[in-house]
Parts: sequence; structure tokens; C-alpha cells
Amino acid sequence: MIPLVDLKAQYDLIRDEIDEAIQRVLDNTSFIGGSEVSSFEDAFAEYCGAKFAIGVSSGTEALRLALIACGVGEGDEVITSPSTFIATVEAIAGVGAKPVFVDVDEETNNIDPALIEAAITDRTKAIIPVHLYGYPVDMDPILDIARKHGLKVVEDAAQAHGAEYKGTRIGGFGDVACFSFYPGKNLGAYGDAGGVVTNDEAIADEVRLLRDHGRSDKYEHRVLGFNSRLDSLQAAILKVKLAHMEKWTDQRRAAAAIYGELLQDAGVRLPAEQPGFKPVYHLYVVRTPKRDEIAEALKAAGVASGVHYPIPLHMQPALSYMGHSEGDFPNCEQNARDCLSLPMYPELTEEQAQFVAQQVKKAAASLRIAG
Ligand SMILES: Cc1ncc(COP(=O)(O)O)c(C=O)c1O
Repeated sequence: MIPLVDLKAQYDLIRDEIDEAIQRVLDNTSFIGGSEVSSFEDAFAEYCGAKFAIGVSSGTEALRLALIACGVGEGDEVITSPSTFIATVEAIAGVGAKPVFVDVDEETNNIDPALIEAAITDRTKAIIPVHLYGYPVDMDPILDIARKHGLKVVEDAAQAHGAEYKGTRIGGFGDVACFSFYPGKNLGAYGDAGGVVTNDEAIADEVRLLRDHGRSDKYEHRVLGFNSRLDSLQAAILKVKLAHMEKWTDQRRAAAAIYGELLQDAGVRLPAEQPGFKPVYHLYVVRTPKRDEIAEALKAAGVASGVHYPIPLHMQPALSYMGHSEGDFPNCEQNARDCLSLPMYPELTEEQAQFVAQQVKKAAASLRIAG
């Protein structure tokens, strides 16, 4: 069986380093805060090419705290894409703001910058571009719009550690970028974890306060905050894994290149890789109207696959209060019908990638969609 993601294969390769880091934390019994957390934060800020990184308890919390630090709250509107994981919108609703959807670009499945201005009202406070599947959003037009209308840009980089836009890593384009270190992410902890990255010192200070009970000193609380800290065990694990990220990204991209080459004329639509955009393939997503049939054939051949995501956010029961209906965001809806994620992780071998591609090709040919 070739899984969608293989966390065990990765742990087996770095077992000694990880076990040593965990043992160090246990020996020091410093489980919250301290040098394990700050040392990972420094390393992650440097990796992202940004001034500050603040470890938090999840990607969802990273988004929520970043929005609060950007001054987004009750009654404000925040523009984002309906083609994302629900956490993006939970964070918006979580601060009392109203999510406003804009359809995605048909090719990349990321927010279409050309549609954003029409959605801006006098209540709009921020835009959350989501670098979905590890494919960077076209940031320049979004930054222009934000400057023109005085909006904050909070990047949802949960799936895009190390992705590059015009030669620069994601992390410092907007006012703040939010990362998830959920175990299956490109940089994944061994539990829940997240990070906020920014070049803005005021935002960094505010997130640091908010994540730790609004504490300015041990028993002085400047604001009412939260318990949203990154713990030392996760920080120590993440620091070990961060040192491998460049190699792992290259390995993901190498697997994507094999898929790209072998699936060229399989009759399925391949992920975009436009000039100036360097995706990190958190997911390798092909598109085909025969998605379910191909997934079945892959399963029968011992290959796992996934669908990210089958229900667009505007069609989710939890968001029915927004009053949307089918047809409101046609590109997003089309992607939800057609998308199929193939196995993708750094340890996927050349032979495994070739086998997966052959099975996709075979299934597509037998469904007569090739050519
Ligand atoms: C696009 C996106 N945003 C936000 C999140 C939330 O991250 P977390 O699960 O760490 O809270 C995730 C991942 O789960 C995600 O994929």
C-alpha cells in the first residue's frame, strides 16, 4: 500500500535526532517556553526570511491571534477564498468578523486577485490569501489592492512552508503569515502546533502577549489573552525537522517532477507551475471529471488518494448562515468536483512515484479519458 502521507517513514530516518531532542526536554523538565521555543522561533524566522516568528498552539490559533493583532474584530469583514480548509474561516468568525468569499483562479485554485476589489466594502479590514496545496498566491496584485484600500494582509501559509514567490520565500509578503505545524504538514510537529511570522514588531509583540494570557510579567496581564502557546517538546521536534526542510522540499519537488513527466498525456489536468512561482507540493493535486473512478482504481492497486476539499466552504452546513448557494463560486466548485490528491511526501521513492503514475495512467486509459 502506498499511503497519501507516510509519517513513519520520516520518523525512521530521523529517529536518533528526534529521540535525543525529546530526551533533552524531559531531562530539563522545562515544558513550557524557554530556550527550546525561542531557539526554534529564531531558526524558523530565519528560514522564512522574516524578522520574527512566534510559536503558537496550532495554525488555527496562528490565524486567530494574527487577526486580533491586526486589529480585526466584531463587525469587520475579511476577504478570503472558499477553496481552503475550514480553519481559515473559523479564525475570521472566531474574532467576530464576517468572512467574505471571492472565487479562485481557475488554473491555480488560489484566490483570484482580479475579483477582490469588487468584494471590498467600507467594513473590509483584511485579506487572507491562502497558499493552497503549497502553491504560492500571486501576491503583488493583492499587496497593491491592500495598500490602495488600507487593508491588512494575513497570509494563510499553513500548507506552504518554504514556497517561493518571485524568488522569495513566503513569510514576509503580507503584514503577517500564519503556519500550521500539524503532523502531516510539510513541517510537522508530533502534535498540534503553529507559528506566526512577521516583520512588524508591534504585531509580533501583540501575538506574544495574546498567546500567553496577555502576560507582560509573571502575574501582570496587560490584556486578556489566551493559552495558545507552543510547547517545548514540539519546539524541540520542529527544530530538528527544520534542518531537513530544504532537502525534503527538493524531494517533494522531485516526486512532483516524476508525476508531471509521466502523467503529461494521461488525460488528467496537472498542477500549475507558472514562472515565478515555486510550489512546495504539500499536496499534489490532479483534476479530472472521473475523480471518483480513478480513486477507486488506485485503491484497488494499493495506492491511497485524497480529496482536498470535496465541499467548498460556502456549501458547508456550518456556514449556511452566509446564505450562499451552488453556483456562487464556479471555479472553486469545479475544483471541488474534480480534484484528486496523489501520494506526496519527501520519502516517496522514485519507484513508488512511477508506480502511482502508471496506475493513474492505466485507470484514465480504461476510463477512456486519455489523449
Ligand atoms: C489552509 C489551512 N489553514 C489553516 C489550517 C489550520 O491549521 P491547524 O490544523 O494547525 O490548526 C490548516 C491545516 O489544518 C490548513 O490547511
